[in-house]
Amino acid sequence: MKTGVSIFTTAFVALGASWLSLVYAPFQQLGGAKQTIVLQSTDIYPLQRTGEATLGAQVYRANGCAACHSQQVRQRDVATEITLTDLGVHKPVDFADFVKSLSELPELALYKNSLNANLKDWNGGLPKTLWRGTDKDIAAEMADRLKSVGVKSETRIVATGVDIARGWGSRQSVAADYLYDTPVQLGSLRAGPDLANIGVRAPDVNWQLQHLYAPRSLVKNSTMPAFRYLFTVQKIGAQPAPEALVLPKEFEPADGFEVVPTAEAKELAAYLVSLKSNVPLYEAPFTPIIPTK
Ligand code: HEC
Repeated sequence: MKTGVSIFTTAFVALGASWLSLVYAPFQQLGGAKQTIVLQSTDIYPLQRTGEATLGAQVYRANGCAACHSQQVRQRDVATEITLTDLGVHKPVDFADFVKSLSELPELALYKNSLNANLKDWNGGLPKTLWRGTDKDIAAEMADRLKSVGVKSETRIVATGVDIARGWGSRQSVAADYLYDTPVQLGSLRAGPDLANIGVRAPDVNWQLQHLYAPRSLVKNSTMPAFRYLFTVQKIGAQPAPEALVLPKEFEPADGFEVVPTAEAKELAAYLVSLKSNVPLYEAPFTPIIPTK
């Protein structure tokens, strides 16, 4: 009987501890997650997907897209980046000399090589990234020095890391990005690119549909399987269907036939273009580039 009690207690403590750390603690941290405010704006993030895109998430799930695609951008660090926007009265050559003289300063000595490497082979084109580093004081000092000689520069916060360098996003993925996802389809294998921001990279629904029907018609030697069964090949009626795919010659169906997306394909494409996690948040800040019109 005595061993029975101790076995029960041990099992209870072991299971209880795992429940506390795997269920209760995450629930405490994220269970009450709500929409948040986009940094330096009054916009709310994230917004609920459209009904079509919400259905598309289920098509994504049913077709095992998450087996080959992740939806999580990793980030290593945040850095401060100084970009030159206007040299004022300076010529690129004497400006480069000025930067060389700057890099002799003891506090900037550490960055001498990167500064010189950045300006090597520079033809004077602007905007030009002069420096990137993690030390905010150095960034402020450098911006001050540039200002004192009449050179205009912009200081931006940027996320760094391999995923960011691959162009998969401007910041890391955070819990808020998945607020409206059930289930969250993070994916764990990257046979294809990360899709957390595919709606930013490929916002055209027609591109998405054609890519699903025939990946190789858009990406040479693509190894992504073609999802032909999400489309119907039908005889062209009196008029071609308005939503029929416009395909390159070698991917066209037989003469007199056309390829039209099924409702599922359209939902999936709507979901893909809705995948955008490109706004700065408190827990993942960066300075967005606002396109100048
Ligand atoms: C067997 C692995 C595999 C599966 C399953 C798969 N893909 Fe892909 N996918 C790839 C590969 C490899 C690429 C890169 C080549 C290309 O762009 O076609 C890719 C590329 C993509 C791209 C373009 C990405 C970019 O950055 O340009 C999208 C969008 C995409 N896949 C969506 C899907 C969807 C939606 C599904 C499910 C219906 C799916 N994939 C299933 C392997 C896969």
